[in-house]
Amino acid sequence: MSNILVVTGSVRPNSVNSKVVSLVVRLLEQRNLIVAVADLGELQLPFYDDPLPPSHPEFVPTNAGVRRWTAMVADADAVVLVTPEYNHTMSPVQLNAIDWIYKGWAGKLVALIGYGWRSGAAQAHATAREALAANLKAEVLDTQANLFFAKDLAPDGSMLDEAAVLAKVNASLDKIVAHLG
Ligand SMILES: Cc1cc2nc3c(=O)[nH]c(=O)nc-3n(C[C@H](O)[C@H](O)[C@H](O)COP(=O)(O)O)c2cc1C
Repeated sequence: MSNILVVTGSVRPNSVNSKVVSLVVRLLEQRNLIVAVADLGELQLPFYDDPLPPSHPEFVPTNAGVRRWTAMVADADAVVLVTPEYNHTMSPVQLNAIDWIYKGWAGKLVALIGYGWRSGAAQAHATAREALAANLKAEVLDTQANLFFAKDLAPDGSMLDEAAVLAKVNASLDKIVAHLG
């Protein structure tokens, strides 16, 4: 059975993220996948502060949260990023988490689920794609979920159009299953 890691994207106390993460976890579990959640609020990764870049052959993370996060990504057959859009880019807490890993991203299957106003996090996904696919050589799925506030979701994260939300998220998750065989 495949292991899927769902990565949170916000550490705000009243975040929409936890509602979307719960939905993604539920839909993955319905597919009989083994699901783990990387809660970036709980992991408390420092802002990237290692003297060496992560691509350096002698780079070995010492921070406990970074070591745990690195192991979680290594153990996953696929990673699902659930991200809000902040200032037309992905959430900085998630980008910082991506930065802490170099080799571990190469060839990793990644799905992008995002939410926002005008673009439904399309610009957040573009940043994630540039970092993960173009630079770190992850296999980022073409199918991405863009959930729009005021159409798909209310600003508090509850569903306005449940059928549309399920269709978008399921389309991404189905691609993961298809890729994992
Ligand atoms: C710092 C910041 C910047 C934001 N910038 C954008 C943006 O560029 N585009 C957008 O659609 N929403 C933007 N928003 C609104 C967020 O999409 C909305 O607040 C969402 O609930 C944030 O996700 P969260 O609740 O999981 O933290 C921004 C919110 C914050 C806090």
